[in-house]
Amino acid sequence: MSIRNLFLLVPLMVACTAKAPPSGDPHSFSRPERVRVTHLDLDLDVDFDARTLSGRASWKLDRRRGTELRLDVDGIVVERVTLEPGGRSAEFEVGDPVEHLGRPLTVRLAPETTEVHVHYRTGPESTALQWLEPEQTAGGRRPFLLTQSQSVFARTWVPCQDTPGVRFTYDATLRVPPGLLALMSAENPTEIAADGVYRFRMPQPIPSYLLAAVVGEIAFRPLDARSGVYAEPAMLDRAAWEFAETPRMIDVAEALYGEYAWGRYDLIVLPPSFPFGGMENPRLSFITPTLIAGDRSLVSTIAHELAHSWSGNLVTNATWSDFWLNEGFTVYFEKRIMEELYGRDYVEMLSVLDQKELRDRIEEMGVDHPDTRLALELAGRDPEDCFSNIAYDKGYLFLRHLEESLGRDRFDEILADYFHEHAFRSMTSDRFVAWLRARAPEVTDVDEWVYGRGLPAGGPTPVSDALAAVDRRREAFVSGGRADEVDPEGWTAHHHLRFLRGLPDDLPAERLAELDRWLGLSDSGNAEILVAWLLVAADRGHPDADAARERFLLRVGRLKFLRPLYRHMIAAQGGRARAGEIYRRARPGYHAIAREELDALLGVP
Ligand code: BES
Ligand code: ZN
Repeated sequence: MSIRNLFLLVPLMVACTAKAPPSGDPHSFSRPERVRVTHLDLDLDVDFDARTLSGRASWKLDRRRGTELRLDVDGIVVERVTLEPGGRSAEFEVGDPVEHLGRPLTVRLAPETTEVHVHYRTGPESTALQWLEPEQTAGGRRPFLLTQSQSVFARTWVPCQDTPGVRFTYDATLRVPPGLLALMSAENPTEIAADGVYRFRMPQPIPSYLLAAVVGEIAFRPLDARSGVYAEPAMLDRAAWEFAETPRMIDVAEALYGEYAWGRYDLIVLPPSFPFGGMENPRLSFITPTLIAGDRSLVSTIAHELAHSWSGNLVTNATWSDFWLNEGFTVYFEKRIMEELYGRDYVEMLSVLDQKELRDRIEEMGVDHPDTRLALELAGRDPEDCFSNIAYDKGYLFLRHLEESLGRDRFDEILADYFHEHAFRSMTSDRFVAWLRARAPEVTDVDEWVYGRGLPAGGPTPVSDALAAVDRRREAFVSGGRADEVDPEGWTAHHHLRFLRGLPDDLPAERLAELDRWLGLSDSGNAEILVAWLLVAADRGHPDADAARERFLLRVGRLKFLRPLYRHMIAAQGGRARAGEIYRRARPGYHAIAREELDALLGVP
């Protein structure tokens, strides 16, 4: 290299280091290569009146070099920091905030320090926490608290090295008001403790985004010896019935890719404000009640959260730019579980529906958009930008492509080895590509899939004859056929979704009313069907749909539904004002993560 080029390169290198810290995770201030946390001892009082958690997070350290521990904090008040051994107060500094990232907490260590105690309380701005009023629960009598740490919100309730590249074990004590049960992503109680004091232990190392807690009037029902369902008492029967197949899913998953590593697997069905369909908190998946349809039609989300026990929780994306390693692998694994339970045709039906949404999304973004890549570049951006169907459904297609190229048996062996060899470790897209290249050199288009934009030509194409038949019924109806001839006898929820999602958006009001009378859509107890219907029928002179939409938006906080419903409402004539009015009333009931996104959509300053 010439001297001149060297000069050009040096300032460039400096600029890069300033942007991306050496840990390699641009969304964390922590510098684990210097001092890394290994174990958390958490001790918190849960105060529903003040809406705060207060107490202490004690971290055991692996000291490699330097005299400073760096943690991430956001919206937390650090009161005092002490050092062990000795217990003396430490010098600490909370740095300036950076958008999306919160602030660095730097603690000066003594030479002998092996443990740091951070005394703190959460503030009203702690994004991870949702404090629910009794009216927002099924029981209606007691308040409820839930957390959502993924992606960078653990730092809003626990000062931590908030990067998926650092793992730690934990113990915790939560003190809650009498009559309430507390659960965490850990070994859990099944009964309410009279004194409201709960102790938890998580012996397997986890990354911070899997820290989770929930407090409320919650009961437990076992499904078998190693799995069960937690829910509010009023929901427990329906929840236990809906998810009764969970033990079989675990058996099937283990037969596919190796032993379940976390001991128990339980579900907690949360109140409807929970912003996601599910969240794979280890040992205790968090689940939206909108999966309870009364016919087990939406349980693929349980298979999904369970599958994360391998893809994500065991082998973890190193940064949020590698998110597809969590989600793409999990969608593939989820579909393999579903195939064992329900058969190939059923899963193809789900895949065709997903692929339609993927293709629509890519078209909307433009095939050349850099975020249509699996391996993203999120440095300097909101880490939540990782969340789109690209990671999920393009990721799935890539794994299915590998399966089709290598043969199922060989690919299964490779995947099982992948989980086994990298268990309890993190993985980057680049390292995965290198590992795969060594294991399966005959696959030559890996780079195109991982680093390329849009969808590679000639990839897998899920096909469903059943859905093709639904398309024909819809076409007959749209071109003037009677609603009673749609004949949904034998249809699953997925047939309905296909039918509804393909309807034109200019159907006259009488035709909508006719369909509704025949199919009972505005009263559907299946949230997916209801939302698909509302996206066709609301704002089209069919008042039942408008009323159903308003009720839904005031009750449910799941972003997957809120996003399209509000967008659709805004797009209608005079819709922005109506959307703003409903949002103003509904907003206090939504989780901060949902509020943040919807505020931007609805122009709330
Ligand atoms: N881990 C995700 C949820 C998540 C992702 C939360 C990124 C925050 C940031 C979870 O496993 C998930 O993917 N949930 C999906 C359901 C799934 C079946 C596609 C959801 O919530 O819709
Ligand atoms: Zn997932």
